[in-house]
Formats: sequence, C-alpha cells, structure tokens
Amino acid sequence: MKVSIIGTGYVGLVTGACLAEVGHEVICVDVDPRKVDMINSAEAPIHERGLPELLKRNSGRRLSATTNLAAAVADTEITFIAVGTPAANGKIDLKYVEAAAAEIGRAIRDKAGYTTVVVKSTVVPGTTIGVVQRAIERASGKKAGVDFGLGMNPEFLTEGTAVADFTFPDRLVLGGIDARTHDVLRELYQSFDDSVPRIETNPTTAEMIKYASNAVLATMISFSNEIARLCSAVGGVDAIDVMRGVHQAGYFTIRHGGERLTAPICSFLEPGCGFGGSCLPKDVTALVGQGRENGLSLDLLQSVLRINGAQPDEMMRLMGLHYQSLRDVPVAVLGIAFKPDTDDIRESPAFPLIRRLKEQGATLTAYDPIARPSEHPDLAGVRLADSLREAVAGAKIVLLVTRWSEFSALDGLLGELGTQPLVVDGRRVLNPGSFSQYEGIGRA
Ligand SMILES: NC(=O)c1ccc[n+]([C@@H]2O[C@H](COP(=O)([O-])OP(=O)(O)OC[C@H]3O[C@@H](n4cnc5c(N)ncnc54)[C@H](O)[C@@H]3O)[C@@H](O)[C@H]2O)c1
Repeated sequence: MKVSIIGTGYVGLVTGACLAEVGHEVICVDVDPRKVDMINSAEAPIHERGLPELLKRNSGRRLSATTNLAAAVADTEITFIAVGTPAANGKIDLKYVEAAAAEIGRAIRDKAGYTTVVVKSTVVPGTTIGVVQRAIERASGKKAGVDFGLGMNPEFLTEGTAVADFTFPDRLVLGGIDARTHDVLRELYQSFDDSVPRIETNPTTAEMIKYASNAVLATMISFSNEIARLCSAVGGVDAIDVMRGVHQAGYFTIRHGGERLTAPICSFLEPGCGFGGSCLPKDVTALVGQGRENGLSLDLLQSVLRINGAQPDEMMRLMGLHYQSLRDVPVAVLGIAFKPDTDDIRESPAFPLIRRLKEQGATLTAYDPIARPSEHPDLAGVRLADSLREAVAGAKIVLLVTRWSEFSALDGLLGELGTQPLVVDGRRVLNPGSFSQYEGIGRA
C-alpha cells in the first residue's frame, strides 16, 4: 500500500521504516527539514536499536521523506497522524494534531481517490471522531465515512526496543468509523503474524485502550514505590525482597513445562526513583484531566502522579542520611535519558532531582552514555562528562538515575579510582556490598 506518515519522530519514523520493511511504499512528512534530509540520506535522527539498518535498506527505495504534506497525502491511500501531543495545563495540547488534520483536509479537497486517515498519536478518548474529524471535514468540504475513512491505531512501542516492538507487536488495536476503514487497516497489517491478536473496535475505544494500558503501568510503578517507602520506614525489610516474593505468585510467574516464566510486568513492580518519559506522566495527567472535564475525580491516578512526583524527595532523603548540607558537595548524576537505550530525555526523573540538588547548592556533573542534551534549562551550570570515569572521579555522592547497563561497572571503576563516594541507587541495580557507603530506594 502507499502510506504517508505525518510527523516523523520516535513513533512516526519507526512506523514508517517498519512498514517500508514489510513492503509498503512509505512517505514520511515532517516540518523539520533536518529530519527529512537525514532520513533521505539513510541516517537515523534518533537513537533506536535496529533503525539505522532499516533506513539503510529502505531509504531511497520504499521509504522517502518530505516537508510537502499535500503532495505526500495526494500520492498515498492511507495517511497516519503521528505528531506530538505534549502536556499542557493538565491536558494534552492537540494543536499539532489539529494542524495536521486541517492540512490533510486541504490536501484531500481536490483529491479524486478515497483516502483513509488514521490517528496514531496518543489522543484522549473522543479526539478522533471529534477534533480530527471536524478539522478534516471543515478543510476538505468532504464527509467522513462517505468521502474518506477515519481510524485510530494507537502505538504501543517502547523506546529502546521500538523496532522490535513494532515488528512483533503483542496486539494490534484497530479503531475505525466504518467497515471500509477496517478493511484498509486489515490490509495494511496483512503481513503481520496471524497469531497477533487484532482488536477491531471504534476509534474512541482504541484511544481508551492506549490510555488504560499506560495508566496501569504507571500505577504499578507508584504502587511499588509506595510499598518501598513503607519498607524503609518500618526497617529490617527490603522492598526488593518483598517484590521478589510478590512476583512468584502464579498471577505473575507462570509454570510453563518445567520452567517458571516471570511476566515482564514485574519490572514495573520494582521500586525506583520514578517514571518519566514522553508518555506515562503526560498520559496519566491527560486522563485525570479528562476525568475532571467529565465531572469525575480519578483519585487513584491522581495518587499515582503524586507518589511519582515525590520520588526525587526520597533520593534527597537518602542523601540527607549522610550529608547535613549539600552546599558545594560534588555530586555525579548517572543517566539523563528517561530510560536506558534511548536518547529521549523528555520528563526524565533526572531533571527534578537536578533542580533540587541545585537549590541545595551541590556542584553537579551529569553523564549519560547516549543522551547529550546541550541546551536543556535544567542543565545550565551542570558539567556534562564524556565518560563514566570522568563523571565519578572526584564525586562525593554518586546518584544512579537511569538503568543503563554501563553503570553496573561502577564498583570496579570506583575501586580503580580509589574513591569511596556515597552511592545512592535509584534503580536498585547495584550490589550494596560492593560499596562502603550505599543507599537504595526501598532498602531497610
Ligand atoms: N515516544 C514514544 O515512546 C511513544 C509511544 C507510543 C505513543 N506515542 C505517542 O505518539 C505521538 C508522537 O510521539 P513521538 O514521541 O514520536 O513525538 P516526537 O515529538 O518525537 O515527533 C513528533 C514529530 O511531529 C512533527 N510535526 C509536528 N507537527 C507537524 C506537522 N503539522 N506536519 C508534519 N510534522 C509535524 C515534529 O516536527 C516531530 O518530528 C505522541 O502522541 C505520543 O504520545 C509515543
């Protein structure tokens, strides 16, 4: 099929490259000419495992990029909207979605053939058949369900494993306003394994499935962090041991033949310094906001956000057990990306922590193996180290914020450097016995 994708960020580009790989002809559209040029030169504008290889194989063949949205829409049968939906005042800002929808509408005004427009961005339930449909109809003078198809196909990929997640999805959620839209979506995903469950539904249900999926993950994380806080307060009990016991329940670990298989959800049931990224905080906030607009107080999800917002304070408390004042104390922050294997720093838990450390007058160095943000306001006055060794040399406190595998070598490195800083483990990945001063979230 001929596919155009509006918005070539983490989701749009991975979607485009993966669809090209399975044989579709894909045009990626972005307002950023730098991204467009890079894609056309088979260079990945983001750090994502497997993406450079996909671009090398497909760019200039089945995959191209342009800033010309109208031409891309005119030339394709199906158009995805994959632009950003950032948080704004307790809601999501739909201005990019609305602008893309209006531009698609203008592009299909004079188009003779039938087009199907599919929303892939995460949008609050009701957006596709509300804001998006209205904007396209108004700009095109055409009618959804008569002149064009309209669908919602949320994306569940995780940064760091995005290519594999898209290629081998655990489910396909296909929301459509009518049978014709469903036919188009079915055809698009025809080459995907038949065993992948297809959930065919209406666009609003598809939107809610995405939000409910992210909300449950955020809830798991905040649940673990609440239990972890209580473990620390009670004393003599380590939240990691507690969660290990919880994970062994048959709900989480199933017997399969002679093996015991622990469900990946258990990684969300481990205490840490909080969730971040471009999805979980924004999506839970948006759901709470939509509840408010509908006269509902979503108390559980509000608590999930409140607990998460307090996790940097827990890191500060652990430092406070050793230091009365942090003024001029050299502190190394390990990890700026919101999770390992990505360069994405949006809503990273490192930033609220860095802000608190700055307020207390600490001397800060930060290091991340991949993320190299140059102009983030929270990093003003923070020295960015080029290596783990450079980051921790001279530090009195080392804070582990992101679960990068490189950081597991910290004990050996400190041994070589001959230093014994306080290590505060925000991800509970280090062996406490390897450090002379160690604190970890949820530890007795
Ligand atoms: N990043 C993830 O892990 C992830 C996972 C699932 C869903 N989502 C959702 O997918 C959507 C996109 O997320 P992302 O992380 O890819 O965003 P992103 O910010 O990385 O990319 C968005 C892109 O859209 C472009 N853009 C904006 N307006 C445009 C327009 N009118 N025409 C053409 N291009 C335009 C921007 O230049 C940018 O390159 C969001 O709704 C997000 O919540 C993200």
